[in-house]
Amino acid sequence: MNTELIDRLRDDLTAARYRVDALDALWGGAAASALFRGRTLPAVRALARRRATGATVTPVETLGALFVLGETVGRHELDAALPALGSLGAEELGLVGPEDDGLRARLDLRPYSFVDGQGAGSWWILSDLGETALGRALDQDHVLGVGGASNTLSGLMITEPADSVLDLGTGCGIQAMHATRFARRVVATDISRRALAMAALNARLNGIDSIEFRHGSLFEPVAGERFDRIVSNPPFVITPRVEGVPQYEYRDGGLIGDALVESVVRQASEHLTPGGIAQLLGNWEYRVAGDAVHGGLDRVRGWVESGAGAGAGAHEVLDAWVIERERQDAPTYAETWIRDGGTRPGSPEFEALYAAWLDDFERRGVSEVGFGYILLRRPPGDGPRVPLARYEHVDSALGDNPVGLGDHLATSLAGHDWQEARDDAELERALLLHAPDVTEERHYWPGHDDPVVMTLRQGGGLGRSVPLDTGLAAFVGACDGDLSAGAIIAAIAQVLEVDEAALRAELVPRIRSLLDDGFLLPA
Ligand SMILES: C[S@@+](CC[C@H](N)C(=O)[O-])C[C@H]1O[C@@H](n2cnc3c(N)ncnc32)[C@H](O)[C@@H]1O
Repeated sequence: MNTELIDRLRDDLTAARYRVDALDALWGGAAASALFRGRTLPAVRALARRRATGATVTPVETLGALFVLGETVGRHELDAALPALGSLGAEELGLVGPEDDGLRARLDLRPYSFVDGQGAGSWWILSDLGETALGRALDQDHVLGVGGASNTLSGLMITEPADSVLDLGTGCGIQAMHATRFARRVVATDISRRALAMAALNARLNGIDSIEFRHGSLFEPVAGERFDRIVSNPPFVITPRVEGVPQYEYRDGGLIGDALVESVVRQASEHLTPGGIAQLLGNWEYRVAGDAVHGGLDRVRGWVESGAGAGAGAHEVLDAWVIERERQDAPTYAETWIRDGGTRPGSPEFEALYAAWLDDFERRGVSEVGFGYILLRRPPGDGPRVPLARYEHVDSALGDNPVGLGDHLATSLAGHDWQEARDDAELERALLLHAPDVTEERHYWPGHDDPVVMTLRQGGGLGRSVPLDTGLAAFVGACDGDLSAGAIIAAIAQVLEVDEAALRAELVPRIRSLLDDGFLLPA
């Protein structure tokens, strides 16, 4: 890695103010949204309109045209935009190459801004050119930039301080870079040397020096090591293993079906410290055998439970919280991923790949594929315990989570641990609060005084809603940290003129569930 040239590039990008807000201002919000959908035309037209006015060309305009829109720019223009690096330095770094009478991007280089638990931040990310800029299907060793799945995982990351984090399958390094914001030490691995080189370049470009990069498959590069956190956006895409089907390193780990995600899940416990948490994205298959459908979430549960005891105490099952966000039938899944590689529907190549995918699914009895988030936690101690085993399908719109969903996951896990550690008598002695994002909705028949439907809604987190009856609504309404849970239940029983023991038996499990979901918090 030519560190001197990268440092010059950083100085130039800083001076140019090559940032997300500057690009948005250049071509406008609608064009920026179109770019997010992979469409460049609105931004190309906005730049053409600007040029027609004779406005001075700014460094941001040159860099945006070159690296985001894939246009050719003149050598003098690039020299002006990157005065310290120069166009020759950019060529030496492999960022650009000659084409027609100018220079064209050989890599994608774009600003990236984010907000996490530590505040707002902004980086530049280098990756391989996407399908739009290439004008053809991707190469099999393509190094992915920051995409939708990358954003999903970085938003899910629990960002409470940690000593060590492993990013398995780092790609351009985005998750590892995020992890440096809350961890002392980060190890980033990948099977692709190109990806590791790109990730190291991105770290240097952004002044990050706490990531150690290691080459190898899955957990091989960290054999015998444990981490406080593991994050992975693994190559989970299910791909038929037949001649002629491209095997993209960035999305497909070379195994059959969902076996790569299974491997990560099964081996996670060997690499987590006590209390350590692994967070990954994944696909899991739904399989039909005879008349029976074997659910994808049950498959994941099987992986978690059979991975038990591999690294910690005997028969130790990891806590698991698996949230299925989407389920696609086999043809829809195949179409999605064939298109993702840049193959156009309707072409003979598309039809051949489509047939290969459907053959593979049929042969293995796969009817649907689930996608979602997997959170695994190694228990902090050796004592007897009931492991958390939440396997749920949540496809509603998420709530508003300005710093990502990770905060909500951490709060919910803490709420679960807190209630799990208390028997009913202890729970009833405790003071509780309703979370600040929780609201109550009431619906009435016109002209009636009593509500017919009451619902508790979560403004953030997973955007859950819970149906309420009078007793639970009164309980949640009174959770302001003044009275113990037991005293509130007693008061409600008196007002409603119902049996207190019966109300207690009905409400306590529901209160526990509201603590698990982050509606209620220990005061
Ligand atoms: C979907 S990309 C994720 C990139 C990045 N972490 C992100 O979140 O955007 C998956 C990465 O896993 C890598 N990979 C593929 N097979 C692997 C394996 N067996 N072991 C480790 N990494 C692998 C790919 O090279 C690719 O960089």
